Amino acid sequence: MDAEKKTVGQDEETLPSLVSFFRLREAHEAQEALFHQHQCCLVDRELDQALLLLKQYRAQILRHMRDEEEILLPLYEKGQILPGGQGNYFVQEHRKLLDFLDRIKDAMEVLALAEGDAWYRALFTVLDLETTFKNIGEHHEAREEKFLFPGLDALVPREARLGILKRCKSLAL
Ligand SMILES: [Fe+2]
Ligand SMILES: [Fe+2]
Repeated sequence: MDAEKKTVGQDEETLPSLVSFFRLREAHEAQEALFHQHQCCLVDRELDQALLLLKQYRAQILRHMRDEEEILLPLYEKGQILPGGQGNYFVQEHRKLLDFLDRIKDAMEVLALAEGDAWYRALFTVLDLETTFKNIGEHHEAREEKFLFPGLDALVPREARLGILKRCKSLAL
């Protein structure tokens, strides 16, 4: 009986973080940390490393987008969708973010060949694109926190949530 009580108590303590789809914030935080490392290398003129980190970042967000598009959005769309929270909006934003990453990569290739004053102009082109990219990404994540995660929490019973989250490759569960 005591052991049973203890288990229930532990579950109650860890329940909100373990079984909510808000757990996907962990993937967003890991992505943000990687992009920050990329930007640090960029301003330190470590372009090879900055490009490598950008490639890793792209692979990481692509994995996360696939989790959302292949696992989470098909579920979410079975629930009640509030105005502004349509599943296709998230997909369109994913495409926009990937398109911006391609533009950033192109701008970095110009930067790699630039010298003198042109180097600074090319650097600011990259940084300006990255600022816009980060703004789009923040808006996208805010919409996921407003619609997608609570929508999934409302739809999926607690006992089924962890199993779904474990299928998401962008989360280390
Ligand atoms: Fe997303
Ligand atoms: Fe996301």
